[in-house]
Amino acid sequence: MPFSEDSQIDFSSFNPQELIELSYVSKSTTDVGILGLMNLLEDAVHKNKKLGVTGVLFYDSGIFGQILEGYPNCVEPIWNAIVADRRHEEIQVLDIDKLPKRRFSNWSMKFYGSDEISKYVPELKMGLKASENALPSEILTLMRSVGFQSSGNDGQNQTESRL
Ligand SMILES: Cc1cc2nc3c(=O)[nH]c(=O)nc-3n(C[C@H](O)[C@H](O)[C@H](O)COP(=O)(O)O)c2cc1C
Repeated sequence: MPFSEDSQIDFSSFNPQELIELSYVSKSTTDVGILGLMNLLEDAVHKNKKLGVTGVLFYDSGIFGQILEGYPNCVEPIWNAIVADRRHEEIQVLDIDKLPKRRFSNWSMKFYGSDEISKYVPELKMGLKASENALPSEILTLMRSVGFQSSGNDGQNQTESRL
């Protein structure tokens, strides 16, 4: 199993003054419709704004992928809520590490649904689908890439949740 199955993270092992990046994939427990995704994003954006957490959320065919960026004491309560959330299961941490600079500094939670993934990161579609067998580092590289491509105002028409 290439992913860590342990969602327990020791946030105190990180310097509180340094940003961290936490990424994972998970499976939705219900058929998340557009309304479900909107509710989820509303929750996420509200709390992330309050805690200065930024990142990106992908959803395609029952699989979520997410990157969270922020200071350890801000990411921790959000992570605890995410882990306890019944809307998904089989959470597989891809990576957690310190982060020199935010990739999604303008987004409290940028969102890519199936159409945006097909258009902007088509390789990620396969990666998420085969997430149990795919390399975590490859999925993570693809998820991070949309941060780089969207850091400028490139006119893409995606669902965005700006800070
Ligand atoms: C896939 C997924 C991603 C989520 N991402 C976030 C997030 O980035 N920030 C956040 O605050 N909540 C996120 N949530 C929602 C939380 O699990 C939770 O509902 C929300 O933080 C409100 O929690 P509270 O009512 O305990 O304050 C996510 C939930 C799921 C299923």
